[in-house]
Amino acid sequence: MPNKIEVEIKEKNKFYPIYMDMEYIENLRERIYKDFNFKCSKFLVVISERVYKIYGKILGFKSDELFILKDGEIEKNFKNYQKILQCCEKKGLDRKSALIAVGGGVVGDITGFAAATYMRGIHFIQVPTTLLACVDSSVGGKVAIDTDYGKNLVGAFYQPDAVYINLNFLNTLDDRQYKSGLAEILKYAFIEKSCEARFDYGLYDFLSVHCSKILDRDLRFIEKLIKVCIELKIAVVTKDEKEAGLRKILNFGHTYAHALEKITNYRTFTHGEAVAYGMHFIFNYAHKLKLIDANYKEMAMVLLHKFGFYDKTFKFPTDKLIKIMLKDKKTEDDNIKVILPTMKGYVKEDTLDIQTALNIF
Ligand code: NAD
Ligand code: GLY
Repeated sequence: MPNKIEVEIKEKNKFYPIYMDMEYIENLRERIYKDFNFKCSKFLVVISERVYKIYGKILGFKSDELFILKDGEIEKNFKNYQKILQCCEKKGLDRKSALIAVGGGVVGDITGFAAATYMRGIHFIQVPTTLLACVDSSVGGKVAIDTDYGKNLVGAFYQPDAVYINLNFLNTLDDRQYKSGLAEILKYAFIEKSCEARFDYGLYDFLSVHCSKILDRDLRFIEKLIKVCIELKIAVVTKDEKEAGLRKILNFGHTYAHALEKITNYRTFTHGEAVAYGMHFIFNYAHKLKLIDANYKEMAMVLLHKFGFYDKTFKFPTDKLIKIMLKDKKTEDDNIKVILPTMKGYVKEDTLDIQTALNIF
C-alpha cells in the first residue's frame, strides 16, 4: 500500500493527501512549512498538553505559534473553542492562514471546528498522535465541540487540507489509549462489508488471527491496520460526506457510547472504551431481536474479549442512557437511530426499540 493516500470529496471537488511514514518527528515542522509555504502565511498550532510535554522541543514550533490545550474530553468545549479563535485574532490569522492540530481526537475535533468557522473557514492540517486519531478522527472531516447537552452537538463537516501520520508518535501512547484506538478498529471489522470498499480486507479475521501481535504493538501490524481503516473510512466518506446515508454506519456502537461518556461526565471511559461497550450492547440487542444468530453474537463477544474489552462488573442504567440518546443529533422525532449488525461485517440503520433496549441487561 502507498504511503500517500488521496482522499477525494466529490461533493466539494476537493482532494487532500494523507501521508503516513516513520520520518523523524524533528522534520515534521519543516515538512509542513515546505508543503504549505508557510513562510509567507500565518498559522497556529493547537497541541495537546501531554503531547507538548513529550514532543514540544523536538517539534520545534516557537511558543508564539502554539496554543496548548489541556487534556481530556472535558476540554473539547465552547470556552476553549472561543480561546482558540481569540488567539487566531490576536495573531492576525487571515483567510490564507492555517490551524494545525497536533494531538488526539480531542485536539483534532476542536481545532477543526475553529478552522471551519474562523473567517468562515481557513486551512486546516491534522497531525494525529493517537491510534484512534490515526484510524478515525483525523480523516473524514467531522469536527465538533461538546455542549452541556451532549457530545459533538455543535460542529461541521470540514475536511483537512492534509493529514500527516507519523507512526513514531504512537511509541509514547499508554496502553489504555492504544486500546482505545483498537476499539474503533474493531468497529471497522464489524462494519467492513457495508463500507462498499473496492477490496475485501478481511479485517475481522485479520484481527482475530493476529490479536497477540497487535496487542504487543508490532509496528508492521499497526501500520497495516491504520491503512485498512483509512481506506474503509475513505470508501464511505467519499460517497457520503455529510452523513445523508451510507456514512451513518461509521456510528456503529456510538449512540450508546456517547450517552455513556456523557452520563459519566467524560471521566470514566475513554472514547474507545465507551464504543466497545456500545458495540457490546448493540450485539446483544440485535440478538434479542433475532437480527443476528447466537453464533455471530458469540463470535463478536469473543473478539471484543480477546482485545480486553467489556468488563461485566459494570452495570449501566439503560433508562438514563436512553434519555441522553434522545438528545443525540442522530435522533429524529424522538426515534433513536442506531446501526445494527445483521451478518458478519454487515450493518444497517434502524430505530431503537426502547422496550427491548431496556431489557438487554
Ligand atoms: P484524546 O484526544 O483525548 O487523546 C487521549 C490522550 O492521549 C490525551 O491525554 C492525549 O494528550 C494523549 N496523547 C495523544 N497523543 C499522544 C502520544 N503520542 N503519546 C502520549 N500521549 C498522547 O483521545 P482520542 O482517543 O485520540 O480521541 C477521542 C476524541 O476523538 C473524542 O472526542 C471523540 O469524540 C473524537 N472522535 C472524532 C471522530 C471524528 O470523526 N471527528 C471520530 C472518532 C472519535
Ligand atoms: N466517526 C464517525 C464518522 O466519522 O462519521
